[in-house]
Amino acid sequence: MRIDIITVLPELLKSPFEASILKRAIDANLVEVHFHNLRTYTTDNYKTIDDYQFGGGAGMVMLIEPIDKCITKLKSERDYDEVIYMTPDGETLKQGIANTLSLKENIIILCGHYKGVDQRVRDLFITKEISIGDYVLSGGELGAAVLCDSIIRLIPGVLGNETSALTDSFQDDLLAPPIYTRPREYKGLKVPEILFSGNFPEIEKWREDQAFEHTKKRRPDLLKD
Ligand code: ADE
Repeated sequence: MRIDIITVLPELLKSPFEASILKRAIDANLVEVHFHNLRTYTTDNYKTIDDYQFGGGAGMVMLIEPIDKCITKLKSERDYDEVIYMTPDGETLKQGIANTLSLKENIIILCGHYKGVDQRVRDLFITKEISIGDYVLSGGELGAAVLCDSIIRLIPGVLGNETSALTDSFQDDLLAPPIYTRPREYKGLKVPEILFSGNFPEIEKWREDQAFEHTKKRRPDLLKD
């Protein structure tokens, strides 16, 4: 898989890809992540990437030209499955979206800034708009990092144990059950006995029941369907 990220702040985005699971995935060639600084696609001396809104109103708008140049160049080099725009008014990121995107070959992610991009960028180039939640960030970069992490960890071979992504919260629309490790007892709190029983069908059933109860308590909205 290849991910191309278009941003005015590549330095803000790079560090999540330089540690732990994402770094390992890149080092193992399971994913390529490329950063494109939008300012290198400007043509004026000031490297302008934004301007005032037509019709008045507070906040700057990202210009279409540099974005067009960057996306058109990338598309001339390979086919893309999706051109994603990070924006608070996009579709809220859910596990299902990450699952679907993890199966794609090439995707572009455009990070918004200021008030956002000229509407014509969305009309012309964007195939999917994603929000990471109902709050406004200073730009799309942190959202893009969250989206990439949620996708990359699902690529086969990225996680050591192939099954571990399948047992995450939200797979099957359930939160994950509680988990325990050493010590068996800590400050009077004991690990549930069932986990030492060696009866794996019973343990699996216990985990399913716990996941259901946990979801019912914390996120009943997930159980609606
Ligand atoms: N850019 C600004 N706020 C955002 C959000 N909540 N999700 C994605 N991109 C954003």
